[in-house]
Amino acid sequence: MGLGDQIDLPAGFEFGVATASYQIEGAVDEDGRGRSIWDTFSHTPGRTHDADTGDVACDHYHRYLEDVELMRDLGVDSYRFSIAWPRVQPDGKGAPNKVGLDFYERLVDALLSEGIAPAITLYHWDLPQALEDLGGWRERDTARRFAEYASIVHDRLGDRAHRWITLNEPYCSSIIGYAIGRHAPGAREGHGALAAAHHLLLGHGLAVRALRESARPGDQIGVTLNLQPVSATSENSADVDAAARALLISDLLFTDPVLAGRYPELARPTYGALTDFSFLHDGDLETIAARLDFLGVNYYYPSRIAAADYAEPDPAKRTAADLGTKEVIYDREELTAMGWPIDPDGLTRVLTWLKTSYPQLPPVYITENGRACPDVIDEHGQVDDPDRVRYLDAHLRAIKPAIDAGVDVRGYYCWSLLDNFEWARGYAMRFGLVYTDYPTQRRIPKSSYHWFRSVIAAAKASWQPTPLTGEGATNDDRAG
Ligand code: FCB
Repeated sequence: MGLGDQIDLPAGFEFGVATASYQIEGAVDEDGRGRSIWDTFSHTPGRTHDADTGDVACDHYHRYLEDVELMRDLGVDSYRFSIAWPRVQPDGKGAPNKVGLDFYERLVDALLSEGIAPAITLYHWDLPQALEDLGGWRERDTARRFAEYASIVHDRLGDRAHRWITLNEPYCSSIIGYAIGRHAPGAREGHGALAAAHHLLLGHGLAVRALRESARPGDQIGVTLNLQPVSATSENSADVDAAARALLISDLLFTDPVLAGRYPELARPTYGALTDFSFLHDGDLETIAARLDFLGVNYYYPSRIAAADYAEPDPAKRTAADLGTKEVIYDREELTAMGWPIDPDGLTRVLTWLKTSYPQLPPVYITENGRACPDVIDEHGQVDDPDRVRYLDAHLRAIKPAIDAGVDVRGYYCWSLLDNFEWARGYAMRFGLVYTDYPTQRRIPKSSYHWFRSVIAAAKASWQPTPLTGEGATNDDRAG
């Protein structure tokens, strides 16, 4: 099977595209929106590539109808987008800002009128700055605030949107945001980052409970985790142990509480000097392990781990990301523009690992997958991105083996509809099926967009029952 051959996916498999509020909306000062930690972070010198900010981004707040039109033409079943908490509660608490919610209602209505199902992410990293000023996710109260906000959004949109994702990638919000410091709020902490991870998970559990209280038949509630298959680069025990610690932080710290209601065994020995785990209260794990209708999995690349020196020799002073590990890139291997290795089989591996590790795994949606390419507009005004096509094609083909191995994968959302603000990498990284020409805000569908459209159309055509005509057909067949 190669590029161009029909991609084998079960009838009814869903295709979608994904985005996130701060990455595309712009309009940061409009209609009562409050500040988020990403406004603060991107406006802090030295934090983002070229001092890029999301102030304008793709101006989606004003151009959403054009973007919905692009999705209609693409033929997707569903659109995964996120809601900016500071549009709904500018200070992260209190009465909702009606005008902020109006925008999302207009968006949802536009999607529904084109037959596209909204998949709403409630938190894709844009925490209201006012909550960060009170400690942000280090604080237990933020989890309660999040559940309250989730109810507000669900009360407004729950009559028409039925797929709900509480959090996007709590690993990134906690570890990259509070331990590595490469994302907002830019902290480099030990205990604070672990507390943030726990409170994000608690917020997820409380939000699931709140949404269930007002759920309608057919509502699907889940959470999106970014997962990496992790392997050691050698059989040396130092590398094998390092890989176990890497697996702990990138996957198990999130999958174990959410899918099995426990913290991984390795957590306390690994973090012993950093934390007393006093943030973990009785009953929290039951809350966090609330029943899910689906798990969202974001997959980009695998992690190959070797042992390394700790950055900080004193265990008590380490950040939660300092685990004595390093990611290995092999000589001459192909990398994306982000510097990420390409391994479609890693998607199959991570899905089957999930099923083996958690036999009660709910249905899975791939909620993000894609790659950055150095895209340019050519002399014909086109954007040709064959490397992205190859990447997406290979990853779509990696789903069926996981389904055959018993993982109930229901759909795939490509990251992303549009080139957008790629966090600390700013506008330098382009992930879109559609090119965003930032100076003019013109959207130019890339060759990957046309390719994805034909993949979707071909899959849907192949699921149609073959009409019975000609010699073999009887009158009864034709009448049926
Ligand atoms: C994921 C994020 C998403 C996007 C992709 C490239 O970690 O969820 O917003 O930035 O990476």
